[in-house]
Amino acid sequence: MAAAEPLAPGGITLLADAALEGRNTLRVPARASLLADVRDAASIGELLATPALRDQPLLVLGEGSNILFAHDWPGLVLTVAARGIEILDEGDNAARVRVAAGENWNDFVRWALGHGFAGLENLVLIPGTVGAAPIQNIGAYGVEVCEFVHAVETFDRQQGRIIELANDECAFAYRDSLFKRERDRYIVTAVEFELPRRREPRVAYAGIAEELTAIGAAGPTPLAVAEAVARLRTRKLPDPALIPNAGSFFKNPLLAEELAATLARDHPGLPCWPAGDERRKLSAAWLIEQCGFKGYRDGDAGISGRHALVLVNHGHASGADLLRVARHVAAGVHDRFGVKLEAEPRIV
Ligand code: EPU
Repeated sequence: MAAAEPLAPGGITLLADAALEGRNTLRVPARASLLADVRDAASIGELLATPALRDQPLLVLGEGSNILFAHDWPGLVLTVAARGIEILDEGDNAARVRVAAGENWNDFVRWALGHGFAGLENLVLIPGTVGAAPIQNIGAYGVEVCEFVHAVETFDRQQGRIIELANDECAFAYRDSLFKRERDRYIVTAVEFELPRRREPRVAYAGIAEELTAIGAAGPTPLAVAEAVARLRTRKLPDPALIPNAGSFFKNPLLAEELAATLARDHPGLPCWPAGDERRKLSAAWLIEQCGFKGYRDGDAGISGRHALVLVNHGHASGADLLRVARHVAAGVHDRFGVKLEAEPRIV
């Protein structure tokens, strides 16, 4: 393998025939023809305009916590490694904060809590980078990141420059955004957040109130809610550092109200939530568990025994092994309930 060689300008490190096993949290072995770590987002344009790279297929990778490599990548894998958190504007009630794409999401949540901002506490411990957060509009425990996004800075490959898109231009939806739909066009370089000082705590999600009581919290302060959510997540979700996974592997399916009502009537106990637009969101984990797949294993690929939405690598599963399990599970759910499950992570 070629040695890493720093290229001037702009602090880009390029590596040929690079191993990606350490760059995806499912720890799947895969290789990239070229891997570029870009520490200065301003040099993305120059890099992509290089004749040798111009026609290469491009894959943008953060910390690899939402991707399944079923194949090698026959082109350039680019990581925006830019760092920095900057308060742009601060009033009595809120601040606008610009965070470079390469910052770790959970570190930023901790930074926000430490600086007395409220709102991100429900999103504590989500793996990945700040740049990846708007792409799939990360969400947990009743909060989605789009509620705090003021604007997204992104390299637009069509225009060949960095542009800023306001929140309402980002087409945010459940685990979805413009950046996910047009992933070959946009490379997120930074996110501007609007962070309030005070905010009604969001504690209605199942388990948070009980957890606040268990830790003896005097009230639902942002720090106490963060602690409660961290305890819930740690208990429910397998730790990717111990057992490789990519969080929820399937999205919770959104169904028309009528169809959801019929399913709920036929299957008592099926968790079902209103999801706007005359739709309801069903629990994919419940559907999977009912089919007997919780803890299912085929070689080293399987479904977590802790949480039925999580695909896990017990050791040396390949991307193809994991994909086979995911397809088997989705087919089982479809046969039994007639519901199609969609993968949440990007499948390469
Ligand atoms: N459930 C089961 N079996 C299980 C797990 C859950 O039947 O093994 C049922 C339970 O009835 C439970 C319900 O599913 O009450 C909901 O479970 P949970 O609170 O764990 O949430 P989820 O809908 O399965 C979603 C997100 C998670 C996020 C949690 C908490 C998606 C695809 N997943 O999971 O996000 O942490 O809510 O808000 O929306 C991720 O995206 O990677 C992720 C982990």
